Amino acid sequence: MKEKIAQLLAQVSDLKCKTAKEVEEARVRLLGKKGEITRLFEEFREYPSERKKEFGRALNELKQAAAAKIEELKSSIGSETESAGPKEDLSMPGTPFELGSRHPVSIVRQEVVDLFRKFGYDVAEGPEIEDDYHVFGALNFPLNHPARDMQDTFFVSTGHPNPLLLRTHTSSVQVRVMESMKLPIRVICPGRVFRNEAISARAHCIFHQVEGLYIDEHVTFADLKQAILLFAREMFGPDAAIRMRPSFFPFTEPSSEVDVNCNICKGKGCNVCKGTGWLEILGCGMVDPNVLEASGIDSKKYSGFAFGMGLERIAMLKWQVNDLRHYFENDLRFLSEFETSIEV
Ligand code: DAH
Repeated sequence: MKEKIAQLLAQVSDLKCKTAKEVEEARVRLLGKKGEITRLFEEFREYPSERKKEFGRALNELKQAAAAKIEELKSSIGSETESAGPKEDLSMPGTPFELGSRHPVSIVRQEVVDLFRKFGYDVAEGPEIEDDYHVFGALNFPLNHPARDMQDTFFVSTGHPNPLLLRTHTSSVQVRVMESMKLPIRVICPGRVFRNEAISARAHCIFHQVEGLYIDEHVTFADLKQAILLFAREMFGPDAAIRMRPSFFPFTEPSSEVDVNCNICKGKGCNVCKGTGWLEILGCGMVDPNVLEASGIDSKKYSGFAFGMGLERIAMLKWQVNDLRHYFENDLRFLSEFETSIEV
């Protein structure tokens, strides 16, 4: 018995295990129901009491040593497995999250909206698929006007007195506003428009416009001129000057096209302004009495002005991008030129 105890004690102190499984096997071998130490205790029980004194304490010490060793091995292996494998470096910077950037047309649209909001204008929107009446009829286009031709307009349905079509301008929204809003009216209508054009550097079948409409008593051409001048100065800087050229639109009388002085050559003449020193920015005029009456507004009491501008055109002047196609190709190299991140 004495020898056996000494032998097992040596075994316990030399015990080495690599895995949790090996520790468990060692525990069963020594301390399990049929384990070597358990068996020694069984033998010990058979001993006469005078011999028990001889081995009792040594046997207990062996059991305690074995149990302690097993615990020690368990915890050291446990902590090794936890720390095994690649460690997380909590000081590493996070994975960057690409937010993208706003499209140049969206940036200009927002600028125009913010600017007119400051002047007290509301924002109104209308449908992109419109009917002939709102795009042409109510705006005083004669029945045989070329804009009503398939060559210029994308029709959605034909063979109907009021066919559906993709709106060719946002002036259609001014009709909807006049039909539904209380007077006085002060709105801008940003939106997407469609024309059956061959795509080139200067023309596209999809583009964006902002329509403006102001109707009240005693509105005059002087108010129109002042509104456009204020817009040009806010958009192109305090030195911006405007020039109004007589023009024609069916829905305004008189009508005008507006140029702003070329901010690239400062009016001296360059290839962007084709040597003239001026760049066209919008069309405008006093709302034709026929248009007011078509929407049920008394043209003897009320008058108003309207204007319409192309957002791609304004963006081209702002950033000197002279090919319209860039705005629709979604090339990230182009888009990332304008803003590095969006505001969230
Ligand atoms: N609707 C015109 C266009 O698409 C732009 C325009 C010109 C709008 C004169 C107006 C205006 O309201 O008065 O070319």
